[in-house]
Amino acid sequence: MQRWTVDLSAEAWRDDRQADAVCRALLDGGLVAVPTETVYGLAADATNPLACAKIFAAKGRPQFNPLISHVASAAVAFQHGDFDADAMKLAKVFWPGPLTLVVRKKPSSPICDLATAGLDTVALRVPAGPVMRFLSEKTGVPLAAPSANISGRVSTTSADDVAADLEETLNYLVDAGPCRVGIESTIVSCVDGTPRLLRPGGIPREDIERVLGRPLEQPVHGPTPAAPGMLSSHYAPKAGVRLHASEVRPGEALLSFGPQRLPGADRAAGEINLSETGDLAEAAARLFAALRALDAVGADTICVQDIPETGLGEAINDRLRRAAAPRP
Ligand code: TXA
Ligand code: MG
Repeated sequence: MQRWTVDLSAEAWRDDRQADAVCRALLDGGLVAVPTETVYGLAADATNPLACAKIFAAKGRPQFNPLISHVASAAVAFQHGDFDADAMKLAKVFWPGPLTLVVRKKPSSPICDLATAGLDTVALRVPAGPVMRFLSEKTGVPLAAPSANISGRVSTTSADDVAADLEETLNYLVDAGPCRVGIESTIVSCVDGTPRLLRPGGIPREDIERVLGRPLEQPVHGPTPAAPGMLSSHYAPKAGVRLHASEVRPGEALLSFGPQRLPGADRAAGEINLSETGDLAEAAARLFAALRALDAVGADTICVQDIPETGLGEAINDRLRRAAAPRP
């Protein structure tokens, strides 16, 4: 695996010689880990079924689970999917950014069936993080990318965490430092005239509803899960996860939030506070790295202090509930 370290503050990062090599790897059907503002993605050419197959193999991911295709701009996204008025509105306001839109796929789109799991819909995203957009633009292909982690495990928000999970299978790892948002994109489907929230994420539900002027509906559950990333046990660390902790039990590690100290916190096997001041954006940005770090402490259980369900709290609590769900 080769590593390209990108300094986004340096204007000329796009001119780096390694950019060409990364694009070549992608166009040759290789796997490249690419940072976005949400989490690191495990990227491959979305038009190349062999390349997409490598993603599933590397992650150990069930084949029915479709991938998000990342493109450089809304204009490119419109070439791949049919956007109704709601989808248009959301694309205009939130792209580039942590929003994925599921829309009907255009028959002319070259995005392969493996990337969409054979559905007649496609998940499209224009990320705010510039590296993924740049690589999509420079290669001229949409980039299929799920989160860069072993399937069912905690997502990755730093290059070192990616390497720990996927080093063996990557052609390239692009390191642009930690992810700003830290939690995956919000997924909204606009396929049946009713916008539906498939997964809470980096853009709070409230912000989307304000733009739509109506509430987001629930997903419709068919034979294929509407967003199979919504499988109940997901984002799981190796340790067990205990929610709504009102005290820290002997031997537990503690994921805390806010200024209030839980009884027993002093004897926790390890503690990370997601935000001392109770800031939900800060908490989201730290969540996955904190779960990985507490897992490394080796405690059997990570107990979690309550986090409010408002704004980004909905996405944070969604990931924590999945981390705590019974494992298959
Ligand atoms: O922030 C993110 O969204 C990150 C970065 C890398 O962009 N990606 C990510 O991908 O979280 P992944 O594969 O872990 O989650 C994608 C979700 C899955 O739950 C999948 O089922 C859903 O998107 N999805 C993809 N295509 C879909 C479709 N056509 N219909 C419904 N759900 C779809
Ligand atoms: Mg994932």
